[in-house]
Amino acid sequence: MDAVRESNVSNCLNTAFDPERFRELGHRVVDLLAGRLQKSFAGEGVVRESVSPEDEFRFWEEVMAQGGGDELEFLEKFVQRSIQLHHPGYVGHQVCAPAPGAAVAGFVGELLNNGMAVYEMGPAATALERWVIEQTGRLFGFEEPAGFLTSGGTLAMLTALLAARSQATSKHGAEGEHRFAVITSAEAHYCASRAAHVMGWGEQGVVNVLVDSRFKMRVDLLEEAYERATAAGRLPVVVVGSACSTSTGSYDDLHAIADFCERRALWFHVDAAHGGAVAFCDELKSRIAGVERADSVMLDFHKMLLTPALATALIFRDRVLSWAAFQQKADYLWDIAAQEEWFNVGRRSFECTKLSMSLKIAAIWRRHGASLFAENVRKTHSNARIFWEMLEADPRFEAAVEPESNIVCFRLRTQSRGGGESDELHKRVRAHLIADGEFYLVQTVLAGRIWLRTALMNPFTGENQLRSLMDAVVESAARV
Ligand SMILES: Cc1ncc(COP(=O)(O)O)c(C=O)c1O
Repeated sequence: MDAVRESNVSNCLNTAFDPERFRELGHRVVDLLAGRLQKSFAGEGVVRESVSPEDEFRFWEEVMAQGGGDELEFLEKFVQRSIQLHHPGYVGHQVCAPAPGAAVAGFVGELLNNGMAVYEMGPAATALERWVIEQTGRLFGFEEPAGFLTSGGTLAMLTALLAARSQATSKHGAEGEHRFAVITSAEAHYCASRAAHVMGWGEQGVVNVLVDSRFKMRVDLLEEAYERATAAGRLPVVVVGSACSTSTGSYDDLHAIADFCERRALWFHVDAAHGGAVAFCDELKSRIAGVERADSVMLDFHKMLLTPALATALIFRDRVLSWAAFQQKADYLWDIAAQEEWFNVGRRSFECTKLSMSLKIAAIWRRHGASLFAENVRKTHSNARIFWEMLEADPRFEAAVEPESNIVCFRLRTQSRGGGESDELHKRVRAHLIADGEFYLVQTVLAGRIWLRTALMNPFTGENQLRSLMDAVVESAARV
């Protein structure tokens, strides 16, 4: 075989595919990453180098212009210049610090590159995907869950709303004089409204319900929202509940939304992209009580569940519903006569070729059991609680809301300044902190004000770091 490989292809291809080179490079890469992990956990170095997009582009333009060289040297540069999610000072967006075992599984999946649109193109990944979906679906309380993994919550949302529309079309006929709409809270992730726009529902196709002082959907206003929409010539066909919301990690009352959906015969979709992870944790799963009544639920394993992005589960309560989104024919891929081929995943998902995401999830699930996910959820939630208590006890700070998740939004108490001035101060404080590099945190707008926002994603962030973050905020406010 080697003789064929050597004689029929160029030197360049031979070098690129040489198994011995690969073996050696692979070992060195693992050493590089293990070293990086050790440094990150020890809090050495910065979370993120602060470089402008233009300068970063020029850097890589030059590196690429040099060409050739060793992959390792190139990868070292990449590692050095990337944000370090395993650093305990990372308290930013909701992307996990992946478990190394899941990353290694991803590496294996990428070399094998099984495309997965049809069973034949990824038998092992397809079977594992069904296992992940069924196990997770049962944790949500579904008796016969069905669904698939897909590339991100945004795509899962679009797919769920397409399924809802398809069901509505079969009930009410195609959209014509009655144009459809989605009801959701003003705090829902923007992917719900983006999906509505993609489906051509436009601005009027997104009916926002106000939130209460804890940023939860005012379920008492659902009926009014429905009537408002119908008066404007829209027919709501689906309600999206947030479990939890992005900005503050607030959980909507899923039972109340389910009651409303039952009364009005609407599709109920739960955006559990972030907070659905509590399904793994006995003490916290009551946060999503009522999820078992949803028609569809989405959960990002790349958020709270230690899996490298992207790995989203879209799970339907009822097997039949999982076929609703796409009725399209692609006869060259599957036998159209066979109606319920669970194993040809491209029939149900938006994607044709996709990554073998199930491998990453299953590798750590099998090795550590579901308790790995539970522990991560428990630790990160407890960090948020500790942080919130520290903020509450300190007269220099105020917290937006008592955390239900691992997300905490806070501000300095700045009574002496006007609202606009105080917002400017918080923007500058954040910019100063991330330029310094010891922490990476984000900001959000709540009730028209800028708040510093932390998502405590890294289970190795400790009380010390949280205390230092508070001090750093105060110091930075004095400087900027
Ligand atoms: C509640 C919620 N839904 C959906 C999304 C979008 O998910 P993704 O980034 O995987 O597309 C996010 C992302 O932060 C989110 O917080």
